[in-house]
Amino acid sequence: MANAQDLYTSGTSPYPWLERVLGSAAEAVGARCAAVAFADNGSHRLSRVASWGPFPVLKGGMAVARWVAAQGKPLALETRQQASQVPGLVLHRGEELPLICVPIESRDGVLGALQANVPSFGDDEDVSHKLHTLELAAHLVGCILENARLEEKLQEKEEDVTRLAKGNIHAQEAERERVCLEVHDGVAQTLVSAFQHLQALEDTPLYQMPEAKQLITRAAALVRQAIQEAREIVNSLTPASLRDLGLVATLRQEVRQFEIDTGCRVELEANWPRLAKDSEVALYRIAHEALTNVRRHANARRMRISLSQEEHRLVVQVKDWGRGFDLKQRDLSATDHGTGLFSMRKRAELLGGTCGIQSALGKGTTIRVDVPIVE
Ligand SMILES: Nc1ncnc2c1ncn2[C@@H]1O[C@H](COP(=O)(O)OP(=O)(O)OP(=O)(O)O)[C@@H](O)[C@H]1O
Ligand SMILES: [Mg+2]
Repeated sequence: MANAQDLYTSGTSPYPWLERVLGSAAEAVGARCAAVAFADNGSHRLSRVASWGPFPVLKGGMAVARWVAAQGKPLALETRQQASQVPGLVLHRGEELPLICVPIESRDGVLGALQANVPSFGDDEDVSHKLHTLELAAHLVGCILENARLEEKLQEKEEDVTRLAKGNIHAQEAERERVCLEVHDGVAQTLVSAFQHLQALEDTPLYQMPEAKQLITRAAALVRQAIQEAREIVNSLTPASLRDLGLVATLRQEVRQFEIDTGCRVELEANWPRLAKDSEVALYRIAHEALTNVRRHANARRMRISLSQEEHRLVVQVKDWGRGFDLKQRDLSATDHGTGLFSMRKRAELLGGTCGIQSALGKGTTIRVDVPIVE
């Protein structure tokens, strides 16, 4: 038997809907009382999860419902004599008749049963009408549960994606740090000593030979260029100024270069203290991505970046008056159009905050990141 019990106790409880469906169905068939029962976790026992009217508390409990759920077939019983003719059904004392009981099914199988006790049965047509009504109600209950289950699965998937994305961000930062360290302390240092050796050659007789001098000078220039390139790699992975001077000074430098490159006028309002390293790195990456997006997509003549402190929160706002885009056409939880906006959100969430994106075609884009200050 499929299991509905764990769903029933989950966050997305379908309970209020079940009660409404049960109540309406019970009224429609003129029932004295009615109940919905589901299979317990991993067992064939049924537990009542919703009831309507004075449904009796049965010690032996729900023999008919259990039988119906096990067989997956509806049952209408008027007398104990009829009940005794149903193979395998043992009625408990206190189980009132007449009753109608129908299975509740989902795609995964039978979840439980819906049972209603009525004052009396009329003719065959009356019984089949009541049966049909209760079957419809049971179908609806099955759909409600199915829906709740799908919602829960979707939520789990979203949580998985978020966990993966956050793990990815952590791994990316760790990898950047590792590469920075290796290039800075490894390749760059080796190049520096190679350069010193080449300089030392200038004091030897070899340097007096025109051909050797030319080769040494050329080699020294190449090594100097390689040192510069190694520094640029390190800087592009994590700007040295972020470590040394902090987020605001680093952004000022980037903004200056951005204005020269693009001709876009940037107002930068920043009044911030130094923050914890992780926060500075995350907020820098967010602001950097927003700036890169303006450079690549916005074609803006003007933009504003503000870093402000509002009570116990830090707010980064990047606004441009460029071409904007249609947010409805972007699924920001997916990464099939690029990862920039997606990872901005995840970085903000990692800091316990939010990242709101507003954009409209022809009206520009605003990114607003709001994170708590970590003491
Ligand atoms: N400031 C902006 N102005 C106009 N369009 C933008 C802006 N920011 C983002 N977009 C639009 O949203 C899309 C998604 O941006 P996102 O940063 O997620 O990806 P990307 O920049 O295309 O690639 P990636 O950042 O992964 O290198 C962009 O391709 C662009 O169409
Ligand atoms: Mg981008």
